[in-house]
Amino acid sequence: MWGKRAARQIGGMMQSVRHTGTKKASKSVGTKSEALMEMEKKFAARIYDPIPVVIAEGKGCIVKDADGARYLDFLGGYASVNTGHCHPKIVATVQNQVMKLHQVSRAFYNSEFPVFAEYITRYFNYDRVIPMNTGVEGGDTAIKMARKWGYLSKGIPENQAVVVFPIGNFWGRSTSAISTSNNPTSFEHYGPYMPGFGLVPYDNVCALEEVLQNKNVCAYMMEPIQGEGGVIVPSEGYLKEVRRLCSKYNVLFIADEVQTGLGRTGALLACDHECVRPDILILGKGLAGAVTPMSAVLANEEIMCYMTPGSHGSTYGGNPFACALARKTLEVILEECLIENARKMGEKLRAELKCKLPKVMVPAIRGKGLMNAIEIHPDFASSHDLCVRMKECGLLAKSATGQSIRLTPPLVITEAEMEEGIEIITKAVHSFAK
Ligand SMILES: Cc1ncc(COP(=O)(O)O)c(C=O)c1O
Repeated sequence: MWGKRAARQIGGMMQSVRHTGTKKASKSVGTKSEALMEMEKKFAARIYDPIPVVIAEGKGCIVKDADGARYLDFLGGYASVNTGHCHPKIVATVQNQVMKLHQVSRAFYNSEFPVFAEYITRYFNYDRVIPMNTGVEGGDTAIKMARKWGYLSKGIPENQAVVVFPIGNFWGRSTSAISTSNNPTSFEHYGPYMPGFGLVPYDNVCALEEVLQNKNVCAYMMEPIQGEGGVIVPSEGYLKEVRRLCSKYNVLFIADEVQTGLGRTGALLACDHECVRPDILILGKGLAGAVTPMSAVLANEEIMCYMTPGSHGSTYGGNPFACALARKTLEVILEECLIENARKMGEKLRAELKCKLPKVMVPAIRGKGLMNAIEIHPDFASSHDLCVRMKECGLLAKSATGQSIRLTPPLVITEAEMEEGIEIITKAVHSFAK
């Protein structure tokens, strides 16, 4: 099914299959892809500016567009497709669970949630879990938990609690999440903003210590590597210092591992690189095999004890479909050594790109595991133009903040696919040389 094919019948027209990898993709004129792009442009609100490709099928790290052209997926659904597209064990779990039971609500117990709850708490070594759906709901849940703990345990006067975030943070698009954003495109004209949030520079221990001394601070919520902010890796030792300062000032350390967790950075959690343990852990993205949204917030009893019946919830949180998929996904991550693969493939990607890309054109290549970014110098191309060129060469990626392009392929990527990806990126960058 995924080998080279000579021709393919699409919508009554014969379309030849174009490139495999480095061969040029079609211009999509008059194609099924073009019709679909036009349809979306006409009927959908313009909140995204997609790379012009219509993905119709996926397997592992490879996707095909609506006209049969093949691409390496180096975005992986914004780092959510950890276990790859249509992983056979995940697909089998979908089929099995959907035939049995998919949604109940937590008005009742269901046969999957308790098993998942035991599995994930043991997996990450926390006492309890709250299941939610999207990553932003996970962040919101963590903030509610921290505020409640702040009032009932730390003794912060009611309605005075402050949660501190680093500048450059991204944890979603809700009105609370944009209230902590310093990116005007995210927050402008959406005010009034949620009070009770503070900002400090990222990767700055002195600045953090200063704000944590405020007795009303209940939590510091941060990404161990900033994703949307441009894949910003803090200095070694920063996470250890965050842990030390949070403990010193009786402030909860909330790790937003929605993007960095589940093996993405070459460790199960990005906090594991420095052997630190957050008080509250947020997971999301590919937790349920990138089939259905699922997030989870984990903490120990001294924080979870304040989360009482009726004080929080979600219609779909803990649904049996997502729970069965999450358990299978967590199993696959271990069974298929995806953490190790992410570490090895990430090292290969950065090392080879550093050799092959001229520093004048690509001044920065950074990341950990398979959470990476390259920066193209604006004298040569915009990050969007480079993404379009990479797409024309057979690789899909998307720009993050400024001139950076994020490279977050599925963790199941093979060495041959990584080599092909490196070749394509190199070729695309060199095509802008003057
Ligand atoms: C670190 C982090 N937290 C939270 C979120 C929000 O997740 P969602 O889009 O599922 O709400 C994202 C999304 O990119 C993220 O990168």
